[in-house]
Amino acid sequence: MAFGPKINPLYHLGALSFFFFWVVTVSGIYIYIFFETSIDGAYRSVEYLTHTQWYLGGVARSLHRYASDAMVITVLLHLAREFALDRYRGVRWYAWITGVLLLWFLYASGISGYWLVWDRLAQYVALVTTEWFDGLGIFGEPIARNFLNHGALDDRFFSLMSFMHIGIPLFLLLGMWIHILRISGAKTNPPRPIVIGTLLTLTALAFAYPALSQGPADLGTVVSVVQPDWFYLALYPLIDIWSPGMVWALAGIGTLALLLLPWMPRRPEQAAAVVDLANCNGCGRCFADCPYGAVILQPRTDGLPFPSQAQVDPGLCTGCGICVGACPTATPFRRVRDLIPGIDMPALTTRDMRHRILAATAPLVGADRIMVFGCRSGPDLTAMRDQGVAALSLPCIGALPPSFIDFVISRHHADGVLLTGCVAGDCYQRLGVQWTEQRLQGQRDPYLRGRVPRERLATAWVGPADQAKLARELAAFRERLRRLGPYRRGGNPPPAAPAPDPREDRNVTYRVG
Ligand code: HEM
Ligand code: SF4
Ligand code: SF4
Repeated sequence: MAFGPKINPLYHLGALSFFFFWVVTVSGIYIYIFFETSIDGAYRSVEYLTHTQWYLGGVARSLHRYASDAMVITVLLHLAREFALDRYRGVRWYAWITGVLLLWFLYASGISGYWLVWDRLAQYVALVTTEWFDGLGIFGEPIARNFLNHGALDDRFFSLMSFMHIGIPLFLLLGMWIHILRISGAKTNPPRPIVIGTLLTLTALAFAYPALSQGPADLGTVVSVVQPDWFYLALYPLIDIWSPGMVWALAGIGTLALLLLPWMPRRPEQAAAVVDLANCNGCGRCFADCPYGAVILQPRTDGLPFPSQAQVDPGLCTGCGICVGACPTATPFRRVRDLIPGIDMPALTTRDMRHRILAATAPLVGADRIMVFGCRSGPDLTAMRDQGVAALSLPCIGALPPSFIDFVISRHHADGVLLTGCVAGDCYQRLGVQWTEQRLQGQRDPYLRGRVPRERLATAWVGPADQAKLARELAAFRERLRRLGPYRRGGNPPPAAPAPDPREDRNVTYRVG
């Protein structure tokens, strides 16, 4: 891949859309300082900016145009990507629906901008847009008439248009804010290298191909040859070729289809996380790590001596289990009887996870025994299992409490642990890979304990499509473990077999998971 995950623009499409919005805003403010809101002055003032003040005004105009176009590209790619990655159903319906509504505001913002230049393209846009609205049949008098002859249009109408070109983007911004309300820690700023690279590209484009007008509007003539902007005006030729009504039908059906998508048949959702108050000390780690704001901390209700307790909103919970990975009470070192953490996943409880690990690792043989932890949205683990490799799939790799890694290695259930999941920076559950990395590096609670030999731990963030890469990583890790030999804590030889704790695991039948 040409870009590392951190600077791959495809992983930052929402943030890039925000960034382009700000570029459009700043350049727009500059243009507006010199802009004349009158029929005669508009074209003249834009020409002044483009040709006389080309070094600033012309560049601002081009940045305004190209950043608007770029925003259409990033928003449409963002939509396609969220769809392709299946991130639009279940509790994500909210981001999807608000996103679809944003499309209308985005197009309305861009299209209203073309009117203001008052060149031949603006005349075309004005005429075709009003014809399109007339096609709705809700206006008493056809508004397109205003653009068919001299004198019908006055400066007041023009002021109204500039007002709309400022007002609609303000609603777009409000909509963008609403869009990310339910996404905790939403990435609205792209990484710095992307910001710099994008700004340089836009500026180079502004100098190489400055945005130009297409000759002054003349209501006395019929606009025929214009070069429409394919980013915002792709549907406009259809209004001419078909009819306004048919294009309304197309836009309406398209919007409706998008709006209904989240309720199409879907893969089964995981049940929501459940809090067990008797084990919750209100530390707030689940609250801090949940990517969807589904956990809230509220004042204690059960009299235990802690100020707060966790509470899950099942309507917001995707069942990713990242909160379990964050909870200090979800540790396999606790006695099995007590292994009910403060927060748990009904589909795969912490106790179940422990049982499955023990069952899966028990038959492993060799000096390179590996326990692989993967995730439901990452690579398929079935093919990896063999006599030296056990695997367990979790709802998200962020659902794995780091203490489980410690448990597997220090109790000699395997010689090494491999974590795999979505491509870094593109986690299906948004933050699972990022939180896992930070927990492993001691930057985020709960930390992986220092005593865990890091050479016995490997990560492979490869995503579901790159099985071959995962196989290569696994082979390399096995080779490394073979060279290391069996794990000896503190230099002592390992016990022949894990000493069974008489208090643990009584009456437990292990299933291979
Ligand atoms: C002005 C246009 C838009 C902007 C600025 C924007 C921005 C964003 C941002 C910043 C995020 C958070 C990303 C993260 O941190 O993980 C996001 C998430 C999302 N967006 Fe948009 N978006 C826009 C339009 C759309 C459209 C048109 C759709 C689809 C119809 C859409 C669907 C989604 C979905 C489903 C998520 C949630 C992803 C998740 O839960 O993992 N967005 N958007
Ligand atoms: S992380 Fe666990 S102990 Fe801490 S508040 Fe959440 S459920 Fe309670
Ligand atoms: S399972 Fe995921 S979405 Fe649900 S509360 Fe836990 S971290 Fe939040």
